[in-house]
Amino acid sequence: MLKMNTHPRSATLPELAALGPAAAAAVRDLLRQCPAYRPTPLLDLPRLAQELGLAQLAVKDESQRFGLGAFKALGGIYAVLRLGQDYAAARLQRTPHMAELLDGSLRELMRGLTMVCASAGNHGKAVAAGCRLLGCRALIYVHRSVRPCRLEAIRAQGAEVRQLDLGYDDAVAQAGADARAHGYVLVSDTAGPGGDRVTGWVMQGYTALIDEALEQLPQPPTHVFVQAGVGGLAGAAAAYLAAARATVATRVIVVEPRRAACLLHNADAAVPARIAAEAPSVMSMLDCREPSLLAWRVLRETAYAYLAVEEDEAVHAVRRWAAPSDGDPRLLAGASGATGLAGLLHAGARAPMREALGLDAAARVLLINSEGPNDTQAFTEQTGLSVVWPAQASMHA
Ligand SMILES: Cc1ncc(COP(=O)(O)O)c(C=O)c1O
Repeated sequence: MLKMNTHPRSATLPELAALGPAAAAAVRDLLRQCPAYRPTPLLDLPRLAQELGLAQLAVKDESQRFGLGAFKALGGIYAVLRLGQDYAAARLQRTPHMAELLDGSLRELMRGLTMVCASAGNHGKAVAAGCRLLGCRALIYVHRSVRPCRLEAIRAQGAEVRQLDLGYDDAVAQAGADARAHGYVLVSDTAGPGGDRVTGWVMQGYTALIDEALEQLPQPPTHVFVQAGVGGLAGAAAAYLAAARATVATRVIVVEPRRAACLLHNADAAVPARIAAEAPSVMSMLDCREPSLLAWRVLRETAYAYLAVEEDEAVHAVRRWAAPSDGDPRLLAGASGATGLAGLLHAGARAPMREALGLDAAARVLLINSEGPNDTQAFTEQTGLSVVWPAQASMHA
């Protein structure tokens, strides 16, 4: 299902500047102070591009970001560092340098801080890794369908993990309520009303990957197919590219599981609403029923179109990357990581969609492999392929 974005553009949304190239440069400056920060690879897939009739197909491979298996490390760690700095500043009556926070000299102070978030897996792992860097406590809520390997990966970063008998969106609400009740600091990657500040930092963190990709690409992309859960990644990508529009004109297509297409269904809403629950999606990191208000606002102004894909299309995309055409590099992805490719293959196979999106022989498409096969069992069940995956690698290794 394809829905073009027909929302009128205001062109004055303040978030666009906050998520633009200057902000991304500041994020990268800060992240360079962390161990294990380095740009992730950008891979060129010339054979698949040829098969799809495109000029170029490039994939930003986030599967090894910070050794944490997903792009989410950028946003979670960046937001935790900013929050930790604020916390210390309020107690020291001066703003400490990030180096002081990272070299352990403020550990005693940081021990008094608890950060909390709800997560399907990757955001929680990132927040836990950031808290470990600062020496503060991480408390991560996961919803009922999160698989044990995901819980273990979060625990391996030193966090306390609580599995709640709730769905994802209710676990998010619970984390917010408990933060207020107990004086914890909430690190949410999805914004409810008034929740823009920290979620904005999380999204700013994600802009670093688009900034890196534009440095790595010979020419800017004409299209980005980017997968969405609550919309933070897609919103960050689209806002960055909109802010850079003077030099880059890119169409951003937001790809969601058909079962959890909360952005597509809320594209024309005056106020976004929770969509009806369906069976869990194999794209488990995208299985959200309510968009982030911040991402939804940004995407209304910046997305070119919304596209929904079926379960089997995501699994097919995982296989396509894992067993590539001759000459193309192999990419290891979980189903959520390959959903952008599923969207491209879906649109590429349908002439009216190709035309509506301008996917032609001049198109240069960028995809994001947003996570590796972090759930190796699911990967093997879905693809029939076995995989050795260093999902638990720690930032300190
Ligand atoms: C691997 C992966 N891809 C994509 C997303 C989507 O990000 P967002 O929820 O910001 O839309 C997530 C979110 O957790 C994720 O873990």
